[in-house]
Amino acid sequence: MEEAVPDQAPGRPHRVGARKIEFAELNGTPEHAPRRLSGITEFDRVAGGGLVRGSVILIGGDPGIGKSTLLLQVMCRLAGGARCAYISGEEAIDQVRMRAQRLGTAAAPVQLAAATNVTDIINTLDSAQGPDFCVIDSIQTMYLDALDSAPGTVGQVRASAQELIRLAKRRGTVMLLVGHVTKEGAIAGPRVLEHMVDTVMYFEGERGHQFRILRAVKNRFGPTDEIGVFEMTDRGLSEVPNPSALFLAERRGNVSGAAVFAGIEGTRPVLVEIQALVSPSPLGTPRRAVVGWDSARLAMVLAVLEARCGVSVGPNDVYLNVAGGLRIAEPAADLAVAAALISSLTGVPVPADAVLFGEIGLSGEVRAVSQTDLRLKEAAKLGFSSALMPRRPGRSKGEDSIRMLEFAEVGDLLPLFRDKQAKPVGRG
Ligand code: TYD
Ligand code: MG
Repeated sequence: MEEAVPDQAPGRPHRVGARKIEFAELNGTPEHAPRRLSGITEFDRVAGGGLVRGSVILIGGDPGIGKSTLLLQVMCRLAGGARCAYISGEEAIDQVRMRAQRLGTAAAPVQLAAATNVTDIINTLDSAQGPDFCVIDSIQTMYLDALDSAPGTVGQVRASAQELIRLAKRRGTVMLLVGHVTKEGAIAGPRVLEHMVDTVMYFEGERGHQFRILRAVKNRFGPTDEIGVFEMTDRGLSEVPNPSALFLAERRGNVSGAAVFAGIEGTRPVLVEIQALVSPSPLGTPRRAVVGWDSARLAMVLAVLEARCGVSVGPNDVYLNVAGGLRIAEPAADLAVAAALISSLTGVPVPADAVLFGEIGLSGEVRAVSQTDLRLKEAAKLGFSSALMPRRPGRSKGEDSIRMLEFAEVGDLLPLFRDKQAKPVGRG
């Protein structure tokens, strides 16, 4: 035990056993946490530039979205230069082996185990030969004897994670915990662990689509909002270094109700098609259905179009979809959404060579958004020749390789859809 330092200040009681904490200067050289790259760039970027020793990463996602496949691929890559273990509580060893064979990575020296007892697992990992990287698939199957509750309950999930985290910090092991996103109920989802771990990633995607997006929502060792894009193949996940091209691959030109949004995900520009369909409603109360965007924001854009521009969707159903299964959080998508809606209403396509971005305010003004240059550069790279965007005061034109059409009001979009003869196009 350390010696107690008495508090000398007059009138202050002396606290027995209390020590003084040491303060440090703010201005010092930070110790850089050593990082390990898996070589899967889309994964490493989301991790903040590699995996930090002793860190605990939670990878959440719907069952069947591809978490086990992703982590097995990551482990196989890391196994070249580090000790890697994959502990499955869901699948038998043979099932994991068969997956590795399908992925073509069965030769990697990853140690496999099928286990669910956390005390046994920790006892095994906590040795000099213990792994540097360990996957626990999934945390919902793990349990501690000491607790009466069943695996998957909040108590078991929390306590099991706590033990594994303690081991990771003590040994410097990188722990990757899989957490299934579950419906409300007795089963505890990844949310109950988010505050305990260093990094939280979600693996997302639409079931029918081949794209999968890995997104960091919390990262003590790097930025959040980074995404990694993967394509599902029958030989596992392959990286998509240029997501814009992929998201726009199935785009059909000259169709009404579609607009290309120049967005930013983390540090990367991503172009994606926003599709709107306004169609007569068979119901008394028309529907508003949104996939991949915020439905409250759609309601706002509709209200602004009606109140400020006299554009009304009337008693029609309104559907909005972000093509490719991407989920967009940026308000910068407002202008593209508005254009897609007007286009669907009028039957006039949005100019096929244009991208759009800009936030819309309640008075109908088009507001500036961040990272304009990055958006324009990506659009030019993918062959777009114009951008419908907010005003940029003080910028000289002509220095970008793309024609910039600046809008102060969302209503200024309307002439684009008015003057042309509507073609007999399929809606949406
Ligand atoms: P899996 O990794 O088991 O999902 P999770 O661990 O999130 O529940 O993947 C689900 C199924 O999809 C599985 O049968 C394998 C298949 N799959 C592919 O065929 N290719 C892929 O690239 C991925 C990611 C999955
Ligand atoms: Mg799995």
